Amino acid sequence: MATARILCAFAQARVGLECAMARTLQRPSQPVESLSGPSAEFPDDLEAAIRDLLRERNAVLLAHYYQESEVQDLADFVGDSLALAQAAQSVDHDVIAFCGVHFMAETAKILNPERTVVVPDLAAGCSLADGCPPEEFRKFKQEHPDAAVLSYINTTAEIKAMSDLICTSSNAPKMAAEFEGQPLIFAPDRHLARWVAQRADRPDMIVWQGSCIVHEQFSAKRLVQLKVVHPDAEVLAHPECDEAVLEEADFVASTTGIIKRAVESEAQTLIIATEDGVFHQIQQQAPGKTILQAPGMDESCACNQCPFMRLNTLEKLFLCLRDLTPQVEIEEDLRLAALRPVERMLELSA
Ligand code: 13P
Ligand code: SF4
Repeated sequence: MATARILCAFAQARVGLECAMARTLQRPSQPVESLSGPSAEFPDDLEAAIRDLLRERNAVLLAHYYQESEVQDLADFVGDSLALAQAAQSVDHDVIAFCGVHFMAETAKILNPERTVVVPDLAAGCSLADGCPPEEFRKFKQEHPDAAVLSYINTTAEIKAMSDLICTSSNAPKMAAEFEGQPLIFAPDRHLARWVAQRADRPDMIVWQGSCIVHEQFSAKRLVQLKVVHPDAEVLAHPECDEAVLEEADFVASTTGIIKRAVESEAQTLIIATEDGVFHQIQQQAPGKTILQAPGMDESCACNQCPFMRLNTLEKLFLCLRDLTPQVEIEEDLRLAALRPVERMLELSA
């Protein structure tokens, strides 16, 4: 049993109510098609039933670090976006059950056209992917005809198909370096773009102005206040955070990088500015450390859970494995066009 302490930085009492309110405003519509009837029945031991289904279906369960702890514990592989794409590339099962968000499962399908890819909830989107519609991006690209396109993996297959190379938060500066001397469009996260521009010395990048609704919630002002109370704490942040938050961070990295640093750091107290699903791995690997949520803009809570990621539940995972629906599908011409920049990233990241 992990003993790491997780503390909400400020008053706990109002957190539940106000977090729920904030999330209601941001929450994606969630048609839970497979949970259609109030009569949906589930086995008493849901975890055991899911394990049985995984075996029966010859399925592998891939999960992102932002999933609920119980989903992470059931998964055959838990990772960040890059590690999950790499894992998807080497799968030899008939079925991939993907617990993350749609663009991640879609990437698995791009790499595995012959395998069935199922997700617990098709409505698990991403504000970055949804905020970069293909038709508008096509026009944006036409305005810069000489520019190459480097896209974050948090995009739809249509955007990937219009890109020269894909990156994730763990390899973005390295991927940007591939375009030295060339005009370069970076899409769709403006915060990640700014961090990459600094790291790769590409201040000239042409940036699509998207953002993540979760990482944008962190407040630099309240983070400074928290650091005063915990002067020995180390601050770890994801590059999707706002510039002012990153300036207060001691270490900026992808989710894998944050977990690794939290475990290896000599600091006993960590302030973490990313989705709190990563706390589960840190608790397991570094029991005893105190983990503080970076505070959100909202005065009473950190609000640091991705409403899309959290659409996935054990119940929906059970149903998608039992019924093999909903499946992620992709039209073959589009898949082939999106495959090229994804494969190029995987080759460069090997
Ligand atoms: P990672 O690349 O660190 O897994 O991040 C994915 C993501 O969606 C961040 O919000
Ligand atoms: Fe998208 Fe942000 Fe959720 Fe990551 S945390 S999946 S970037 S909305």
